[in-house]
Amino acid sequence: MINIAIDGPAGAGKSTVARAVAKKLGILYLDTGAMYRAMALKAMREGIDPNDKEQVLPLLECTEIYAKNIGGTQHTYLDGEDVSGLIRTPEISRGASDISAIPDVRIKLAQIQRNIAHTSDVVMDGREIGSYVIPDCENKFYVTASVDERARRRLLELKEKGRDNGMTVEDMAKDIAERDYNDSHRAFAPLLRLPEAILIDTTDLTIGEAVNAVLKNLKNIGAEAHK
Ligand code: DC
Repeated sequence: MINIAIDGPAGAGKSTVARAVAKKLGILYLDTGAMYRAMALKAMREGIDPNDKEQVLPLLECTEIYAKNIGGTQHTYLDGEDVSGLIRTPEISRGASDISAIPDVRIKLAQIQRNIAHTSDVVMDGREIGSYVIPDCENKFYVTASVDERARRRLLELKEKGRDNGMTVEDMAKDIAERDYNDSHRAFAPLLRLPEAILIDTTDLTIGEAVNAVLKNLKNIGAEAHK
């Protein structure tokens, strides 16, 4: 199996890079963050604070989350409903960051992701794919960028969808810095830069340059992919 792990903080360009690498190699791309977002949506719909472990735990048993690739695009399902269009708001971003700090949530979602990695060639992006989900993976990358650049990109993305709600780059930078702190300070499987992961700082790179940086560093994936 070809397994490629792309970890890094929010807004660094992981998903764009991971999606392009998967396309180039003709393999699956899995956005694992979308699963945490779907879980946060479930809690918020039920009126449950995503920080409230006691209330989130019983919810886990009656929640089904899976992803399907339709025409090269990931669709994320929550209890059979395609929620892909509902999980990209700043509220869900915060909720996902909070709910992902609950170990049982991570155990459940990581197991689903691990099963996919064991049965399919896949590029996965997330926070702890290389450290926790598939630690045996040979191809690990850490994609990052400065907080200001990440804030600028995220805001642009939201503006394009008309979902920025008047947020400024400064508001977004604060949000991102908080999420970085949350994601890297949780006790269980935090975001971290592994010594064996290849660092790609996209602050001053084009998407094409970042994608090439991944492609040229791949190991043991067959000659085809290097063309
Ligand atoms: O990549 P994203 O912004 O869609 O992720 C949303 C949140 O989910 C992020 O703040 C941390 C969490 N997450 C995680 O803990 N592990 C992953 N593999 C992916 C996301």
